[in-house]
Amino acid sequence: MNVTQSLTITKPDDWHLHLRDGAMLAGVLPHSSRHFHRAIIMPNLVPPVVTTADARAYRERILAAKPRADFFNPLMVLYLTENTDPADVVAGYEDGHVTAVKLYPAGATTNSASGVTHVEKVYPVLEAMAKAGMVLCVHGEVTDPAIDIFDREAVFIETVLEPIRRRIPELRIVLEHVTTRQGVDYVRAAEDNLAATITTHHLVINRNAILAGGIRPHYYCLPVAKREEHRLALRRAAASGDRRFFLGTDSAPHSDPTKETACGCAGIFTAPNTMSCLAHVFEEDGALDKLEAFASLNGPAFYRLPVNAERITLVKRSEPVVFPGKIETGAGTVTVFDPMFPLYWDVQ
Ligand code: DOR
Ligand code: ZN
Repeated sequence: MNVTQSLTITKPDDWHLHLRDGAMLAGVLPHSSRHFHRAIIMPNLVPPVVTTADARAYRERILAAKPRADFFNPLMVLYLTENTDPADVVAGYEDGHVTAVKLYPAGATTNSASGVTHVEKVYPVLEAMAKAGMVLCVHGEVTDPAIDIFDREAVFIETVLEPIRRRIPELRIVLEHVTTRQGVDYVRAAEDNLAATITTHHLVINRNAILAGGIRPHYYCLPVAKREEHRLALRRAAASGDRRFFLGTDSAPHSDPTKETACGCAGIFTAPNTMSCLAHVFEEDGALDKLEAFASLNGPAFYRLPVNAERITLVKRSEPVVFPGKIETGAGTVTVFDPMFPLYWDVQ
């Protein structure tokens, strides 16, 4: 295959990743460790990763499952509950075992039953985190069944995020997987202690992918993809180079039988082709020169971590690059994200 163009950038990190555990972990991890140097590891296991001891044990399992030849640094996140001990969180952070804490509103998404119902109950943890300089990652959707699913992010910003930020202005927060124009505008208007991750798939699909011409469970995730105007707002934010927006793939594997069913799980598995999809969309937007900021520079700047020394080269082939439609894991077959356009960019 001929190469028509190439782009060398600092090796990227994934600031929002689901790796699961056991046989699923072993099956999906190589697809992330191949391209990413570090990743923020989501703690929504069953049972969730709630203490520093849980995070240390989970990190060991990840490293044991990693292909030997790959370097990969899993950055561990604690799952915030109403019983989380502020002293454990801060000690875990200060010892380097914990990088961030994740707030899931109870019931918002996959394995979030132990999440937070009354945010006031976790203020002591959030105050301790602010003092220590820790990052809070938030799943920004309300769970009130009376709120339309397409409005849940905007309502969360107004009714949960804004009150937290008023109460604890120094707290450093990442609005995870932002999906709306309102979310983008809110982050843009805030001080630099608020940032947002953007997923690969939300840059590629709008809600038609899930619903038009048949129901397609492999495009269903949370927060659910919105209207086209919102996708375009995300594209502009990602391609702007603004330091407050960076990549969190939210690659979230589920086995096919748990997606292709009457009540399918939320989650899109993008790890294998994420970098190819991103190069495609940044090129389409005339912003290939901003891909490095989005995937490799803005995240470490927000997390106050060094930028990776390694580099990767993306090459544009003259023929489409073929990715497997599915991968086999010991925990079942997992469908790989199909962007619905041919991919020419490949990581060398
Ligand atoms: O689509 C999603 N999948 N959104 C989430 O917030 C959780 C994730 C998962 O764990 O499968
Ligand atoms: Zn997620």
